[in-house]
This record gives sequence, C-alpha cells and structure tokens, in this order.
Amino acid sequence: MRIDLVTIFPRLCDGPLGEGIVRRAIDRGIVDVRVHDLRDYTTDRHRSVDDVSYGGGPGMVFKPEPLFRAVDAIRGEGEVDAVILTSPQGRPFTQREAERLAALRHVVVLCGRYEGIDDRVRSALATEEVSIGDYVLSGGELPALVMVDAVVRLLPGAVGDEESVDVDSFSRGLLDFPHFTRPAEYRGWRVPDVLLSGNHAEIRRWRMREALSRTLALRPDLLPTADLDSEEREILRVLMEERGAEHGRD
Ligand SMILES: C[S@@+](CC[C@H](N)C(=O)[O-])C[C@H]1O[C@@H](n2cnc3c(N)ncnc32)[C@H](O)[C@@H]1O
Repeated sequence: MRIDLVTIFPRLCDGPLGEGIVRRAIDRGIVDVRVHDLRDYTTDRHRSVDDVSYGGGPGMVFKPEPLFRAVDAIRGEGEVDAVILTSPQGRPFTQREAERLAALRHVVVLCGRYEGIDDRVRSALATEEVSIGDYVLSGGELPALVMVDAVVRLLPGAVGDEESVDVDSFSRGLLDFPHFTRPAEYRGWRVPDVLLSGNHAEIRRWRMREALSRTLALRPDLLPTADLDSEEREILRVLMEERGAEHGRD
C-alpha cells in the first residue's frame, strides 16, 4: 500500500513514522509512506500556501492551487484510490474505516492548518472528508498520522503476532478483554486464577465474558452491531440479566 501525506509541516511526521510498527512496516516494504511539503507545490517567491478569507473574518485559509498541484503530481505517479481531506466536519474515523482504507492500494491525505482549506478542495478534489473526533486540532498532521497508524497495523505482516490485531478492541465490534503479565501477584493484587490454570477452554470463555462485560459496561452502543456468535449472545444475555437484577436491588 502507498500513502501520501501533504502538509506544511513534514517534520511533524518524522516521529510517528520513524518508530515502532509503522517504521518496521515501511522498512519491510509493506507500506510506502511519502510526506510532501505543500510549499513545494507553490509557484510564488514566498512559497505561500494561504490567503485571507473572502468575506472577511479572522484567520487564513489554504489556497486551492498548491493542493490541486500536489494531488495532480501524485496522481501522475500512479492511480490514486482515495484523496482524504482531514477535517473536524468529516465522517468519524473508526476501526471499520481503517479496515476499509487498509484494503485500498493508494491513499492521499491532505493536512489542513489555520481556519481550514478553500472549500473547492473539499468539493472538487477530495473524495472523502474524515474526522478523528469531535474536537478541533491545530492541523491535520496528527489526524493523518492517527489514520496511518490504525491502517498500517492492519496490513498483512505489519504486526508480529497477527492474532493480536484480531482481538484488539473494535475488531469484532467489542472492547478487548483485560490482559495481565508477570508477576502473578503485585502489592496484593492477584491475576485472576483462571489465567494461571492452564485450562485453555476456561481461559477462552473467561476472556469472552470479560470482553462482553466490559463492552456492556463501557460501550453498550457497540453491542447492537457487534459480530457475536451464539455462545457470545448467550453470555451477553446472562450478563444483562445479572445487571438487571443488580439494578433491581439498588
Ligand atoms: C483549526 S482546524 C480548522 C477548523 C475549521 N475552521 C472548522 O471549524 O471546521 C485546521 C485543520 O486541522 C485539521 N483538523 C482539526 N481538527 C480535526 C479533526 N478533529 N479531525 C480531522 N482533522 C482535523 C483539519 O485539517 C483542519 O483543516
């Protein structure tokens, strides 16, 4: 997969692209991430990327021309499947969205700054507009890097133990079960006995119950669309009954 980021702060990307799973995936050729300085696509002496807002008001706005030129140049190197405009007004970025993007071959992400980007970029250049949450950041670099990280860890071979991606929170519409490591007891807090039992069937069932119980307690909104099998549905039914009984006692 290839991902191109277009930004006025290319160096902001160095850290997240230079460490950990993303770095390893780049080194192994699993993903090709290219960072473009938007100013390289300007034509004036001052390399200006922004201008005042028509109609007045505070703040500068990204001009359309450098962004169109940058995307034209990237398109000239090969077919592009999606041009994503980072924006707090966009569709929420979720694990499902990460999975959808991970199946594409070539994605371009545009990082805004200041008041935002000339709206013709949204309507005529971008193929989608994506938000990483209902808050406003100073620029699109962090959202773009969040997307890169979430997408790259889904690419085959990027994460060492493939299984760990499958059990991650949201992968099947549920939160992950709790994890413990040595020591078995720390300051009086013991790891649940079942995890030390060596009984794999019991451990599997305990994890299933914990994932469902956590999701029910913390993110019940996920449950109606979660991909549950009959065993999980039965555990969930019991958990909901127990919760109902608890609330009845309150
Ligand atoms: C200060 S914001 C502009 C906000 C814009 N005036 C608005 O209220 O919608 C500057 C840039 O940061 C990025 N950005 C800020 N918050 C974001 C979010 N939650 N998700 C994705 N991108 C975001 C976008 O690229 C945006 O163009």
